[in-house]
Amino acid sequence: MSEPEDDTDRTLMIGLERLLDVVQRFDEPLGRLTPLGERIQAHLGSDVTAAPILTEVVAAHRTVDLDVALEELAAGGELLGVRGQNREHEGLEAMFSSRSAGYDVGAVDVTLAASGPRIRRRVVAFGLRLLTFDGEPVAVLQRVADRQHGREQAGVRVLARESATAERFVGAMRRLMHERSVLRGQVLTLVPRGEYRAGGESVFVEREAIPEDDVILPAGVLDTVRRHVLGIAAHRETLLAAGRHLKRGVLLYGPPGTGKTLTVRHLIGAAEGTTVVLLTGPAIRFIQEAPDLARGLQPALVVLEDIDLVAMDRGRFGPQPLLFAVLDLFERALAQRPGRVDLAVDVPRPGPDERARLFALYVRGLALGAEAVRTASERAEGTTASFAKELFRRAVLDAAMAGHPLGDADLAGALDAMLAADAELTRSLLGMGDAGGSPDEDGEAAGGPGSRRGGWTAYSPL
Ligand SMILES: Nc1ncnc2c1ncn2[C@@H]1O[C@H](COP(=O)(O)OP(=O)(O)OP(=O)(O)O)[C@@H](O)[C@H]1O
Ligand SMILES: [Mg+2]
Repeated sequence: MSEPEDDTDRTLMIGLERLLDVVQRFDEPLGRLTPLGERIQAHLGSDVTAAPILTEVVAAHRTVDLDVALEELAAGGELLGVRGQNREHEGLEAMFSSRSAGYDVGAVDVTLAASGPRIRRRVVAFGLRLLTFDGEPVAVLQRVADRQHGREQAGVRVLARESATAERFVGAMRRLMHERSVLRGQVLTLVPRGEYRAGGESVFVEREAIPEDDVILPAGVLDTVRRHVLGIAAHRETLLAAGRHLKRGVLLYGPPGTGKTLTVRHLIGAAEGTTVVLLTGPAIRFIQEAPDLARGLQPALVVLEDIDLVAMDRGRFGPQPLLFAVLDLFERALAQRPGRVDLAVDVPRPGPDERARLFALYVRGLALGAEAVRTASERAEGTTASFAKELFRRAVLDAAMAGHPLGDADLAGALDAMLAADAELTRSLLGMGDAGGSPDEDGEAAGGPGSRRGGWTAYSPL
C-alpha cells in the first residue's frame, strides 16, 4: 500500500517526464522539417514525425471516384501541390523530413480521367489536402496511378494525430467512393493495363439503343431472354421481400452471325441504369475482376462475349489455363448452381419467316421491288442474319461502283456473288470437290465465314 502523497508525487514526475519528452520531440525535428513538413505540422498542430500514416491503395479505374470522394471530404480545406526532387519515389515521411530534396509547397498536378463515355474530369494527380474531419485535422496525400514511376494503382496516405481518425477517414472515403461512383449504371469494359499480367482498366462504352424490332429471332426467343434478364429485375423488390436472390444467367449459343451479340446489345440498351461489365474474347482473362467490379455496382450484368475466341488465342495470353478456368467456371455454373446460368438459348440461323423479316428490315430506305426482295429472301435459304445485312450493303455498293442507281438487278447480282463465294469457301474449307452440302450444314455466310463454327456468347448477369 503506498501513501496517497507518494502517489501524487509519482504522477507528477511521470507527467513532467512526458511533458519534457513532448517538448523535446517538438523541438528537435522541428528544426529539421522541410517547408512542406512545417506546413503539415502547422495544420496538425502536433509533431508531424510522430503522426501515424495510413496508406490506402485504390484501383486505377477508381481514380475519379477517389477524387470525387476526397473533394467532398475536403470541402473547406486546402489543396496544395508538392514540389521536391524525389517525390515520385520517396515516402511521405521523406517529404517532410528530407531537407536535401527540397520538399516544398508547389503547384497541384492535375490530370484528366474519363468519368463517362464522352466526358472527362479534372482530377488531382499529385496533391496534398489539408482538411478537418470529425473535428480533427487530417492531411491527405493523393496520387493517381503512374505507370511511368512504377505506381500501378492510385491511393492516399492519410496523416492524423490518432490512427483511429485516419481509419475513420478512409472508411468515409470508401463509402463516398461507393455512393458517388461514376462507374455505377455505366457500360464498362476491362482492357489490359500495362504488362499483360497486370489488372484490367475499365473503359466506358456508349450505351446504344437497339429496338426490339431490329432483333429478328424465331418467335418467342427474344421474349424469353428479355423476360429472364429484364423481367426479373422489374420484380426485384418482390423477390427480395420474399427473401429470394436475384442472380441469374443466360447462355446464348449458335452459329456466327445469327444475332447473339446483337441480342446482348439490345439487352444492355434496355437495362437502363444497370451497370454492365463487358468482357470480350481475350479480355475474359479478367474473369476474376469483373464480378468484383459488378458486385460493388449493383444492379449489374456481366457479359462474357466470344468465349470460343479464347481457345483460339494460343500462346499470347497463356490461353490454356485461362480456357480451362473459364470452362471450369461454366461447368460449375451450369451443373451446380442453377441460379447462375439457368437459361440456355439456341440462336439458330433464320428460317423462311425470319429471313423475310430480316430482308424487310435491311431493305429499309432502299428503292427495291417487293418481288425482287421476296425472291432473294427465298434464294438465300440457309444463310445467316448477318448475310442479309451484308447482301443489301453489297447491292448498294455494286450499283455505286457501276455508276447507276440501285435496282433489282443489283440485288440479284450481289446475291449470286455472295452465294457463290459462300459455296467456294465451304468447298475449300471442307476440301470438297463440289459445293457440298447446303450452307446450313457446312458453311457460314458473310459476317462469320465458315472459319468459325458454333460461336457462342454467354450472357451472365449477376
Ligand atoms: N437476328 C438478327 N436480327 C437482325 N440483325 C442481325 C441478326 N443477327 C445478326 N444480325 C446482323 O448481323 C450483325 C452481326 O451479328 P452478331 O454480331 O449479333 O452475330 P453473333 O451471333 O454474335 O455472331 P458471332 O458468333 O460471330 O459472334 C449484327 O450487328 C446485325 O447487324
Ligand atoms: Mg458475337
